[in-house]
Amino acid sequence: MCGIVGYVGPKDCSEVLVDALRKLEYRGYDSAGIAVFEDGKIKVAKEKGRLDDLQAKMNAEGVPAGNAGIGHTRWATHGIPSAVNSHPHKGGEKVTLVHNGIIENYKELKEYLISQGRVFVSETDTEVVAQLLDFNYEGDPIKAIAKTLSQVEGSFALGILFADRVGELFAVRRESPLIVGVSEGESFIASDVPAIIKYTNQYYLLEHDEIAHLDFSGVSFCDLEGNAIVKELKVADWNQEAAEKGGYEHFMLKEIHEQPTAVKTTITPRISDGLPCLEECSITVDSLRDINQIYIVACGTAMHAGMVGKYVIEKMAKVPVIVDIASEFRYRDPLIKEGDLVIIISQSGETADSLAAMRLAKSMGAKTLAIVNAKGSSIAREADMLIYTHAGPEIAVASTKAYMVQIAVMYLLGFKMALSKGQITEDECRRLTGVLASVPVYLEKTIADVDDVCNDIATQLLEAENLLYIGRGLDYALSMEGSLKLKEISYIHSEAYAAGELKHGTISLITDGMPVIAVATQNSLLDKTVSNIKEVKARGAMVIVVCDEEAQIGADVADYIIRVPKIEESLMPMLAAVPLQLLAYYTSYKRGNDVDKPRNLAKSVTVE
Ligand code: AGP
Repeated sequence: MCGIVGYVGPKDCSEVLVDALRKLEYRGYDSAGIAVFEDGKIKVAKEKGRLDDLQAKMNAEGVPAGNAGIGHTRWATHGIPSAVNSHPHKGGEKVTLVHNGIIENYKELKEYLISQGRVFVSETDTEVVAQLLDFNYEGDPIKAIAKTLSQVEGSFALGILFADRVGELFAVRRESPLIVGVSEGESFIASDVPAIIKYTNQYYLLEHDEIAHLDFSGVSFCDLEGNAIVKELKVADWNQEAAEKGGYEHFMLKEIHEQPTAVKTTITPRISDGLPCLEECSITVDSLRDINQIYIVACGTAMHAGMVGKYVIEKMAKVPVIVDIASEFRYRDPLIKEGDLVIIISQSGETADSLAAMRLAKSMGAKTLAIVNAKGSSIAREADMLIYTHAGPEIAVASTKAYMVQIAVMYLLGFKMALSKGQITEDECRRLTGVLASVPVYLEKTIADVDDVCNDIATQLLEAENLLYIGRGLDYALSMEGSLKLKEISYIHSEAYAAGELKHGTISLITDGMPVIAVATQNSLLDKTVSNIKEVKARGAMVIVVCDEEAQIGADVADYIIRVPKIEESLMPMLAAVPLQLLAYYTSYKRGNDVDKPRNLAKSVTVE
């Protein structure tokens, strides 16, 4: 995610801005920049790469000298990582700004502004809002901001300088967070508390469509009509490390809670007129229509996301999908033919086995599509086609939000492919895409609904030595991910098993009190799954069922039931993943493990 900072006060502004941006590095970024009032003019310094690269450039060209300005670290969404695409962006001669978020209607706005004679230099949506604000500015910053916000759709937090308002800073937000920090004789804006906690722990939370005005006399707030707003001053009692976790105990828990935003940020720009729109990734209806065999190749959690993709694509688009573990794929002489599509899923984009698998597929004539979270990573750079997920940096070794956005992209791709193959009508595709677009709201509810019960049930798992996760169809794919989550952070052995396969041997493992987590969200298979659950319960298992809020599951079947909201059956994995993540999290936490950095594991496995 991008990071925004701003400062007005007696200190060296450039020094404060760069220092504050360093405290936001954990959010991940690929370029950085600042803009400072120097001798009555706005001086901008920005560079691709790390903050050290920006500092080196400023040292060589002159560090902007002043006491008021804005700064930014960019996590590329629109436009590749580059100096010209980095923030701050100028809009004409009057406005300079930094932005965090996604402007959903930037294309239409850009076309309009170009028709009005505006010239653009970058590929970003941010420059569009800078140019629009400049276009609207007639000397009253509040009026110009209000008019601009009435025209812009999407999520944003903006830090703004107006050339004729020297020493003043304006800020406004909608969806993307922004705080206003205050201390004796100085004030700040920041995307998050960590950026400013070194200078002050007192801050205001900017609410949607509220405008903050910072100058050397202090800070004031107003609404879009210019009416003054009195706000409550808050005090952060976090230390630096806690602040980076946003007040959560661990990055993993923070990232579980970030999933609604991550899904929204990933899919919203890929839906146009209610239908999946992947043209930006050079994926057109035509390019999908001719595909008759798909391979999905990945490792670990990413491979489990591919398993969900297999069920969705085969069921909806009727295209055969083979899912492979990358380390197996690259050595089993896969029978790839010209024109096959090989999808590589990877959060880091640097996993050695996945990168090697992609190179092998390309050498055999396959078209490769990468689904990657880390911008500019090796897999992202080498794939023929690329869909970036926008989960923001995932710090915890155990992947949660990256998995969630990977399966979200699987659904988008599956719906688009089904439409391109004529397997579903445009109306059906629009309906399904609408359900997908509603998932962030249901995810918020799910997290709130199941957090306590997962915390309680985790207590029942602490002493377990072996655990089974069972399910059918999509629930089986989900069981794989639930099992890996538990294993990798709680160190309890578990195994995901197709519920219908238990009776062919594995059921002999069931002992009295052995926990079995049954994922039962597929109502079309519910009766069969319940029969399998009864088989293990009859042999003494302690059964925990994850199902929707309407499923008819009684106490004779389950010792514990975790219910999630009911949505389209094929999309239930997006909600049922949450209790599986939280069960693993709380079990690990209660066992006293290092949840974010479990033993023996690395966040990105860049070796074979
Ligand atoms: C997931 O919780 C694990 N940390 C691990 O399985 C991970 O998903 C796997 O190493 C693949 O990583 P990638 O997505 O960065 O390629």
